[in-house]
Amino acid sequence: MQNRGFPTEWLAELKRKNDLVSIASNYLQLQQKGRNFWACCPFHNEKTPSFTINNEEGFYHCFGCKESGDVIKFVEKMENVDFMDAVKILADRAGMEIPELKNSDERKKTQKLKERVLSALDYAYKHYQENLYGKDAKVAQDYIKFRKLTRRELEKFKIGYSKGWTEIVDYLKGKGFSENELLSAGICAKKNGRVYDVIANRLVFPIFNSFNECIGFSARALEKTDFAKYLNTADTIVFQKGRVVFGIQFLKALKQQHLLDKIILVEGQMDVVAMHKGGFVSTVACMGTALTQDHVTELKRYCDKIVLCFDGDGAGTKATLRAIEMFRNENVDLRIARLSGGKDPDEILKNLGPEKLKEEIDNALPYMEYLIEYYKSKYDLENAEQKNKFVKEILAEIRKLGSPTLFEPYLEKVRDLTKIPIDILRRDVNQQQERPKFKIQEPTLPQTVENGDEKAAKFILASLLHKKDYVDKRIDYQKLLEGFEKYLDIINQNLPLSAIFDDEDSSSDKMLMELVNFNFTEFESYAERYFRECVWKIAEQKLRQKQSQLNEEYKNCEDLTRRAEIAKMLGKIAIQLKNKSLEEFNVRR
Ligand code: UTP
Ligand code: MN
Repeated sequence: MQNRGFPTEWLAELKRKNDLVSIASNYLQLQQKGRNFWACCPFHNEKTPSFTINNEEGFYHCFGCKESGDVIKFVEKMENVDFMDAVKILADRAGMEIPELKNSDERKKTQKLKERVLSALDYAYKHYQENLYGKDAKVAQDYIKFRKLTRRELEKFKIGYSKGWTEIVDYLKGKGFSENELLSAGICAKKNGRVYDVIANRLVFPIFNSFNECIGFSARALEKTDFAKYLNTADTIVFQKGRVVFGIQFLKALKQQHLLDKIILVEGQMDVVAMHKGGFVSTVACMGTALTQDHVTELKRYCDKIVLCFDGDGAGTKATLRAIEMFRNENVDLRIARLSGGKDPDEILKNLGPEKLKEEIDNALPYMEYLIEYYKSKYDLENAEQKNKFVKEILAEIRKLGSPTLFEPYLEKVRDLTKIPIDILRRDVNQQQERPKFKIQEPTLPQTVENGDEKAAKFILASLLHKKDYVDKRIDYQKLLEGFEKYLDIINQNLPLSAIFDDEDSSSDKMLMELVNFNFTEFESYAERYFRECVWKIAEQKLRQKQSQLNEEYKNCEDLTRRAEIAKMLGKIAIQLKNKSLEEFNVRR
């Protein structure tokens, strides 16, 4: 285990002296129920508590937003500080002294570089901003007039102008930054030995994190170009495009003032600016990258009501469908605004005005209704064959709601549209359902495609990790669970669960976090039987694999002795399969 340089024992003591319940109760109203403590989750919006603390093991978990961690992570999040600072806060509180850290030199170096990079970016965006109002900025000034950007938006978003290929380089060098620092900040690149501004001659949108620190740039070409209309600076130690939400600093401010009632998500940064101008100040965008799981998690932390307001063209529809998939199992109120005439929000505001856009946002459809409309427009319901396709696709969507009680209103809609009797729709929606062999909690990660084997493996691993007494000790799990060695290794270390969070890689490993937080309650008295079924399911699959390999070999084998051997092995496997025998997987004594 990498404990970020700290001795394991020291961290354990830190946690003993700062037990999670006493720390958390400084921030939350905790209620004890049984062995656990409950509260409304501080990391997402909710009215009924789904945040629980297991104080004996020293970790928390929210069943709503799936956030989990130990006392250190809790302080990191509540105080918006990094690991080091959270440790300092807790050590201070417990009167413990911070030990000399392993590889602390390297850490200090990274920390130092990070500070330099942020500082360079800070200078850079302010300088770009000045450029916009200085001399030689006519192209940029004309452009902002043409885009109807007013001083208020320009200043709110700190929009700037990058003039020339080396202007910023010279300026920052003059401020004492080295070439390497500028490269690390992503502001510049190097070609043929020369360092140049990667977003030269463009309108510059600085990108801020939630602490209002500039972490990178996106910049728009000022003239028609076949080359990229927008260019983003490269990923750096402070900038990861797959995570960045453009406008997040405004969400944070609104949230702190209790003014955040919904998040509006649009496609482009120019749309964000226009939306803010039109009064929609909780609008953000994902910077031209497709929505990622990290974006989803980040947005949910701020608000659980989200309105998608993507462009009304084909690409926008595609992005919308993808976003629906991402949000579907996330317990958010997801609505889709349909923008008239294939336009983007910026164009609607300019051409039709904020009233029209407000109407479209207010009339945003719950995502299921949007899907019905979408499939309706895709097929001609007067045509029998197309109608069938429509029904098939829409029933598949309805089924994904998971629970038959949620199906009904949508089945009624489908009935109204197709005139197919509701009983038939009810039957079909249930019948086409692939009956899961195992009743198991839905995967918490809608993005990972899981097959039954993985679910089974997960249940076994979780049972091992939580030392369930029904675990069959005769089985060689290393052999049974090939491909999961990483988790078996962690389990074999026999650490207290909270120590798992000490390791940075572990605490960001979603699968491991799922194992730590595995919800066994729904299995109750079935757990033991279910465990055996899971073991057998995997064993059986392995045996069948071996069987087909041997069959193949048998077919091609001309050596009579070998054939006899194979036949014998095949016979043995057949018996094992018939008797559900696990002897293949027993621990060798
Ligand atoms: P759009 O092509 O919809 O542009 O790209 P837009 O937002 O309407 O921009 P304007 O109104 O012409 O200025 C949407 C987003 O995709 C990213 C940008 O983040 C943009 O805002 N994008 C687009 C790029 O990163 N590179 C490109 O070349 C184009
Ligand atoms: Mn646009």
